[in-house]
Amino acid sequence: MKIKILDYNDEFQLDNLIDLTEKSVSNEKYWLPISDKSREHFFDKKWTCFFGAFLDEQLIGTVGLFFNKNEYDESRKEIKLNDDGIAEVGRIMCHPDYRNKRVASRLMEEMMDYVNKTDLKILLATAHPENEPSQKLLRKYGFVKKGFIVKSGNYERDILTRKVHI
Ligand SMILES: CC(C)(COP(=O)(O)OP(=O)(O)OC[C@H]1O[C@@H](n2cnc3c(N)ncnc32)[C@H](O)[C@@H]1OP(=O)(O)O)[C@@H](O)C(=O)NCCC(=O)NCCS
Repeated sequence: MKIKILDYNDEFQLDNLIDLTEKSVSNEKYWLPISDKSREHFFDKKWTCFFGAFLDEQLIGTVGLFFNKNEYDESRKEIKLNDDGIAEVGRIMCHPDYRNKRVASRLMEEMMDYVNKTDLKILLATAHPENEPSQKLLRKYGFVKKGFIVKSGNYERDILTRKVHI
């Protein structure tokens, strides 16, 4: 398995993996629909950085890092976090054929190595309280629950954070 940062050339595969994830998610409440604005900035380096896992050239998993406050500000305010050096970790997905084989874990490790070399101070993530794989993954990588929010009307989310440099 190879991991790299995605660029425009990976757009088609990323769209396919998103479609597949949306169709295969065990509870539709676990996957917050992607806004047009967020999607427009998927390959805008100031806004988003997607780490992608490839097996034989096929994209099988992603972890997204979102630097723009439009992505995380609602959650940040909810837990009264200072707006200083924050990025949101999200759009974590693994192709259904490869789940529970550490694909997302390997991506989280790669993302953490990257983040350690930046000025970022805090990572924020949200997960449905009952999305066990997502909750386990985040907690394994040091995320701790700091609050709760209902996003876009009816998407319940725990808000979790971790310091970049512990
Ligand atoms: C969440 C998701 C990305 C995890 O990907 P993955 O590659 O299967 O994750 P990993 O294999 O690295 O496992 C991560 C942890 O979750 C656990 N886990 C994985 N699948 C699980 C399952 N079905 N039930 C319970 N725990 C599970 C693993 O045991 C591991 O914990 P551990 O290392 O302490 O044992 C994947 O389940 C997925 O794509 N879900 C649909 C999309 C989604 O809900 N994304 C999160 C919202 S942003």
